[in-house]
Amino acid sequence: MDIYIIFLVLLFIRRADYSSSSTIDTLSQGSSISVSQKPEDVLVSSNGVFTAGFSSVGDNAFCFTINFTKSFPPTIVWVANRDQPVNGIGSKLTLLTSGNLILLDAGKITLWSTETTSTSSVHLRLHDNGNLVLYNTRSQSLWESFNSPTDTLLAEQKVTKDASLLSSKSRTNYSSGYYKLFYDNDNVLRLLFQGSDSQISSLYWPDPWKRPFETGRSTYNNSKLGMFNSTGHFWSSDDMVFSASDCDAVLYRRLTIEPDGNLRMYSFDEKNRMWVVSWQAVSEPCKIHGICGANSLCIYDHALGRKCSCLKGFKMKSCPDWSYGCEPEFNNSFSNTQELGFIHIASAEFYGYDFDYYENLTLQRCKEECLKFYKCKAFQYKFSDDCQCYNCYLKSILLNGRQTPNFDGDVYVKLPKAIISSLEIKPIEQLRLDCPHHLEPVMLNRTYERARESGSIKFLLWLAVSVAGVEIACISSVLFFLYWKNRSEGTDKATQGYMLAATRFQKFSYSEMKRATRGFREEIGRGAGGVVYKGVLADHRVAAIKRLNYEADGGEGEFLKEVSTIGRLNHMNLIEIWGYCAEGKHRLLVYEYMVNGSLASKMVSPNNELDWEKRFGIALGTAKGLSYLHEECLEWVLHCDVKPQNILLDSSYHPKVADFGLSKLQYRSAVPQNSSFSRIRGTRGYMAPEWVYNLPITSKVDVYSYGIVALELVTGRKPTGIQIISESTGGMALSEQHGRLVTWVKEKMKMVNGVRGTDESWIQQVADPLMGGKFDKQKLEVVVKVALQCVEENKEARPSMSQVVEMLQCHDDEQSVIH
Ligand SMILES: *[C@@H]1O[C@H](CO)[C@@H](O)[C@H](O)[C@H]1NC(C)=O
Ligand SMILES: *[C@@H]1O[C@H](CO)[C@@H](O)[C@H](O)[C@H]1NC(C)=O
Ligand SMILES: *[C@@H]1O[C@H](CO)[C@@H](O)[C@H](O)[C@H]1NC(C)=O
Ligand SMILES: *[C@@H]1O[C@H](CO)[C@@H](O)[C@H](O)[C@H]1NC(C)=O
Ligand SMILES: *[C@@H]1O[C@H](CO)[C@@H](O)[C@H](O)[C@H]1NC(C)=O
Ligand SMILES: *[C@@H]1O[C@H](CO)[C@@H](O)[C@H](O)[C@H]1NC(C)=O
Ligand SMILES: *[C@@H]1O[C@H](CO)[C@@H](O)[C@H](O)[C@H]1NC(C)=O
Repeated sequence: MDIYIIFLVLLFIRRADYSSSSTIDTLSQGSSISVSQKPEDVLVSSNGVFTAGFSSVGDNAFCFTINFTKSFPPTIVWVANRDQPVNGIGSKLTLLTSGNLILLDAGKITLWSTETTSTSSVHLRLHDNGNLVLYNTRSQSLWESFNSPTDTLLAEQKVTKDASLLSSKSRTNYSSGYYKLFYDNDNVLRLLFQGSDSQISSLYWPDPWKRPFETGRSTYNNSKLGMFNSTGHFWSSDDMVFSASDCDAVLYRRLTIEPDGNLRMYSFDEKNRMWVVSWQAVSEPCKIHGICGANSLCIYDHALGRKCSCLKGFKMKSCPDWSYGCEPEFNNSFSNTQELGFIHIASAEFYGYDFDYYENLTLQRCKEECLKFYKCKAFQYKFSDDCQCYNCYLKSILLNGRQTPNFDGDVYVKLPKAIISSLEIKPIEQLRLDCPHHLEPVMLNRTYERARESGSIKFLLWLAVSVAGVEIACISSVLFFLYWKNRSEGTDKATQGYMLAATRFQKFSYSEMKRATRGFREEIGRGAGGVVYKGVLADHRVAAIKRLNYEADGGEGEFLKEVSTIGRLNHMNLIEIWGYCAEGKHRLLVYEYMVNGSLASKMVSPNNELDWEKRFGIALGTAKGLSYLHEECLEWVLHCDVKPQNILLDSSYHPKVADFGLSKLQYRSAVPQNSSFSRIRGTRGYMAPEWVYNLPITSKVDVYSYGIVALELVTGRKPTGIQIISESTGGMALSEQHGRLVTWVKEKMKMVNGVRGTDESWIQQVADPLMGGKFDKQKLEVVVKVALQCVEENKEARPSMSQVVEMLQCHDDEQSVIH
């Protein structure tokens, strides 16, 4: 009997539990959602993807949020009261009979409301797309969460004149942060940094020194509207468009302005239950303003990411938060009696806040100008290509500082001479980067309202919860099993993606291209993709213009989509692309011109033109460029044709990798269907065994080719070998391909090690005679050993490109340090 009753009670509770928890997507007039962990206090969209309820944001602090629940942990996509969390007890969201939706803190204070009124009855509904909408009886919407976004846009949600995005403070603190996506007065969609003291604000995207049309924006359409659709195409009334790298493969996307100031589009990866970046606005993280505050420099390191460090003579102001910047360690009020001098910082810039500017000034005169003004804190001394002279920019505030090896300008900071000499005695200060992060929990100083619950209700609830718990455990183990099964069945296919932004670089007309190259006269290179000509653009930049032999079947959009991938990549060891031309059947790409041509052409030049220092620099730089392609890019890009012909050298012999990202483009016409990686490609002698064995192609194919190039750099020998490579049977061809250079080097090492002689002698023997015996033995040995690891037949045994960089860098004494 007792058991029977308990069974009935259980049945009853289960039913009640079901009807209230899993299907409620609507809040009716007069009801509330309370802060509690109870299932009835959450609205769930009918597809189960979004929930709306209270989320804990600190110790006893709660915000009303909309969550995307498919990710783990759930993603907060909207917050009602981000800057004013409510108490854990007695707080609730209530839909009043007047039609107003209010958030009551501790049952007393209204912290937030929609300020709506209605004479008829209203209801609140959470839609399948994540929009929370307040309706009246005629199904007119009175208020929508989509109209007041916080930091995230969902598909079909609009950014408008009145609805801008504001980042969160940090990944764990959802209160208002410093970065904003908004429509400016000139109708252009921009990113803005607004400092904590709100005195300082600066625009950083699109590039602020360019006029809107130069960045592909239009100022004429004042409708100020932007949104993306479910296939990941973003479109804005200022003509800014971009596409996610994985068009149409994904169900859920979001566009979020993040605490680090970047605007990123994410696609949801159902299999791994996580978000994957499919586009971002700023590719050089240090170009985002305000991240390091005043008097400090942002430095981007591929291994460590973005870091801040104070200028010499300055110290961090407020420890966990770099946005406050650094303050002087000395007495700031320069008096007339103090003698002042300058500290030099190479390859650095502080953006903005110039109070004066002089063209063609000597360094000495520039220093004198800065000393004249009390307000001059530092000056930027930068070479200008236009006048072929140095310009001098006097700075009153030192903000938006960054240091990057490829920046062509220096900064001189004014300091008292006494300080400078004291700094010179001190050892080089370690960058103070690792500041401990204390996240102070929010303590609300408000009174609680004690909730009174009778014992029996408590008991029933407890029962319901435990039954639900058992159920959840069962269901989740079944789900887990299915998920696990699904996972283990899924192929681990490497996905290739490309990021896009169609606005960054310039479009040229065919006639401009013809004019620039004077009718395609001066050929400077030739490859699988097409012929390269030297040209001079209308703005006097010397360019390398590549004319693709590419079947123009996809139209301009398709072509643009592919090339803009390349346009987004930005690294000192990658060739820079300036633009493209797509007109009729013509397809051209415009690159920066490299004075010293390709590595292949220099390898044979006599007189030790490529001395060991240069060769090592080329090996390291090339590795860095490839490492960026593989790892720093949003989704890695394979090169697939690493060889000396594709490594170009600038005037100081710094290498830049060329011809990347084109693999899809070049081979499209040759490949029948969309099996873009089904065909062998690359260049004989540099090709990894995977191509021949028809194994999955991963970034390790580039590692292999890099290894061969590195061996070639050291030995000066070509990786020759006879190859008859066919698509169907490749085994035999491979053994010859894996060929001579590698075996030759290995034999030299073995013979000497095994029989007679010392380590030294194999080094002497493998080194390129063109270097005339002048090289660093230790470094050369390292390069050879790393290269041999790279050309392992088993791709798992090869290091990644970033590991290669690390191994080489340990032996490079010229690490850049801030002086
Ligand atoms: C929403 O997500 C956050 C973060 O994952 C989580 O802490 C919170 O409990 C969730 N809230 C709801 C109502 O599901
Ligand atoms: C979030 O940041 C704000 C502003 O700095 C601060 O007042 C609040 O305490 C922080 N919240 C948490 C949970 O740390
Ligand atoms: C999204 O927009 C793009 C470009 O306008 C269009 O090609 C695509 O079909 C759209 N997708 C959907 C689902 O509407
Ligand atoms: C301006 O943008 C709106 C969309 O917000 C679009 O409908 C309209 O055609 C645009 N006007 C012009 C002149 O391009
Ligand atoms: C800084 O300079 C001011 C004005 O010259 C002076 O009054 C003050 O004592 C100085 N402080 C220190 C620490 O030298
Ligand atoms: C820069 O100044 C020097 C010396 O004053 C002068 O000889 C030179 O012609 C100037 N260059 C330009 C581009 O004005
Ligand atoms: C709570 O706030 C009141 C006034 O805002 C203040 O006087 C009181 O000291 C605070 N209590 C605590 C425990 O911080």
